Amino acid sequence: MKEIKTIEFKDDVLYLIDQRKLPTSYEIFECKDYKEVDFAIKDMVVRGAPAIGATAAYGVVLAAKEFIYDDKETFLKNLDEALEVLYNSRPTAVNLMWAIKRMRDLIEANKDLDIQAIYERIVEEADIIYNEDIETNKKMARYGNEIIKEGATILTHCNTGALATVAYGTALGVVREAHYTGKNIFVYADETRPRLQGGKLTAWELVQEGIPAKLIADNVAATLIRDGKIDVILVGADRIANNGDTANKIGTFMLSVVAKAYNVPFYIVAPTTTIDFEMESGDEIEIEERSSEEVTHINGIRVAPEGIEVYNPAFDVTPHENITGIITEKGIIRAPFKENILKLK
Ligand code: MRU
Repeated sequence: MKEIKTIEFKDDVLYLIDQRKLPTSYEIFECKDYKEVDFAIKDMVVRGAPAIGATAAYGVVLAAKEFIYDDKETFLKNLDEALEVLYNSRPTAVNLMWAIKRMRDLIEANKDLDIQAIYERIVEEADIIYNEDIETNKKMARYGNEIIKEGATILTHCNTGALATVAYGTALGVVREAHYTGKNIFVYADETRPRLQGGKLTAWELVQEGIPAKLIADNVAATLIRDGKIDVILVGADRIANNGDTANKIGTFMLSVVAKAYNVPFYIVAPTTTIDFEMESGDEIEIEERSSEEVTHINGIRVAPEGIEVYNPAFDVTPHENITGIITEKGIIRAPFKENILKLK
């Protein structure tokens, strides 16, 4: 298996694979302060819910390093402002808020220590978040592999691989596991307009690993499902409400409707850090709207006329009725979702 280092923290620098440039060029984006981390998340140098969470945690490390020479009061005040900036860098993926809250709670619990000791605890915690994500993904992959039949054809959407996490991936982690355990799977990857995370990133990961696959335009998926060519659909999640409603990349909802109509199993693969226990249903989830250029342009080239208005939500919500199961590191959750999700709290 090829190692993809999406995020690496070394000698006070955060190194990110620049996902805006893949697959035509492989470049590393360096963050030396938390504002660069905020930019990297907003501009989608790094993206994917768990990857954003781990990146933000290292953003807090960089902020703490930056303010280490201040007096304690100024240090804590500046750090608090940095936490707020990072918390707001993107709105939908709850792993970001989860990571920042975890860092905030840690700082609060250690605020009586000296600045150097607080800084060391922050570094330690970011490393824990990073390593936990790898372990979690491997566990999810093993649970997910249990529902993959020999020779299965899997449809996936967006990018949920090593690039969307610290390593391995969520839905694509299950695909990896099935491939490496010799299940002879085949993958159809939606290209995922407007930003083409499927076409650019998932396709890149599949090629790197040599996993048999075809890239399809998003419009092809319904025909494949109707024609009985898809055995199972695996997607990731950006936020899951208590009742199982799931926000994920725009287009996921549409897939779930077709899957339900043709009785194709539809699974979400996500760590429990993607569950927002504060939200009762998907109606409460804030959906990020991104720039109109993502739709009017492809790779910087205008493909729509000047003057056209654009609606560009980055995510949609799949109602729990359309979901067969949610594969987490603690096992597979099935209906009744609310009851079973709350058991994980
Ligand atoms: O806008 P993105 O590229 O950050 O959206 C990513 C997705 O929607 C993924 O499916 C989700 O974050 C799960 S990734 C493991």
